[in-house]
Amino acid sequence: MSIERVGIVGGGQMGAGIAEVCAKAGVDVIVHEINDELADAAEARVLKSLARAVEKGKLDGDAHGAAISRLRFESDLMLMADRQLVIEAVVEDERIKTELFDHLDRIVKAEDAILASNTSSIPITRIGRATQRPQSVVGMHFFNPATVMPLVEIVHSVTTSDETAAGAAAFAGDVLGKVVVHTKDRAGFIVNMLLCPYIFEAIRMYESGFATKEDIDAAMVNGAGYPMGPLTLADLIGNDVMLAVAESLHAEYGEPQYSAPPLLKRMVEAGMLGRKTGKGFYDYT
Ligand code: 3HC
Repeated sequence: MSIERVGIVGGGQMGAGIAEVCAKAGVDVIVHEINDELADAAEARVLKSLARAVEKGKLDGDAHGAAISRLRFESDLMLMADRQLVIEAVVEDERIKTELFDHLDRIVKAEDAILASNTSSIPITRIGRATQRPQSVVGMHFFNPATVMPLVEIVHSVTTSDETAAGAAAFAGDVLGKVVVHTKDRAGFIVNMLLCPYIFEAIRMYESGFATKEDIDAAMVNGAGYPMGPLTLADLIGNDVMLAVAESLHAEYGEPQYSAPPLLKRMVEAGMLGRKTGKGFYDYT
């Protein structure tokens, strides 16, 4: 199946980034948000990023216009009916995701359509179970910023069919030009299972007063070759997402290195989610 019509549910930082990548790759994209105001905000997010790409000379005027013409931002989920691939990128809340997949199952018409989740922490098997077609449900895990990071993890649940996984992988690799890796459906997949305990340790180190946040970040950039330090990265990913990943990893494996540092919980309770709220480990206001 050649995928030409994609739906993205959720126009936050990940959904907007994925939508932009799809539109630039020549695919017709509908981004769904829960109301018109949020749909407008998602549109503004993508347009700003596309304009920045033009400014930087990464996109010419024609390609910019073409990408915009392929994008629609809507609040009616019924518009997902004709989509061949729907990628869900809503908040990391299992109840919200399973309800959404139940709706998508009833709305999306094509029997061979792929229903994908960009979840970083919720088992794809549980999301698939919310539908009558778990064989068509797969994980497509993009990385933040989605417009820049080359990787997509294709997550095979115990019920995902080989055709679905192959279709999602072909779309991510051949159409979007991403690097594709395959993983089974266990918490953290490949990247978060390795990356997140490292970030949690950095938070514990900072919380205990062992070193300043600036020194922890500078150490890992200059001593270990990371593009950004762990606390800066937590702010980029979003501390709420970090907490959701910690809870999921800890629930799955029960090992202390996966537990959420208390400081991370307090910061999320205080709304210090990182760049997206203007405050996290650092101040972005
Ligand atoms: N949003 C969108 N684009 C951004 C961005 C942001 N917040 N920050 C930077 N960029 C873009 C820039 O526009 C630029 O794009 P261009 O090459 O097309 O012009 C590109 O990134 C490079 O930017 P800069 O030259 O300004 O900055 P850097 O060289 O410092 O790169 C970075 C920025 C790409 C974010 C780099 O620091 C990096 O790779 N950091 C690590 C990111 C990472 O590890 N992401 C994975 C997180 S884990 C995850 O997402 C999984 C989830 O489930 C938790």
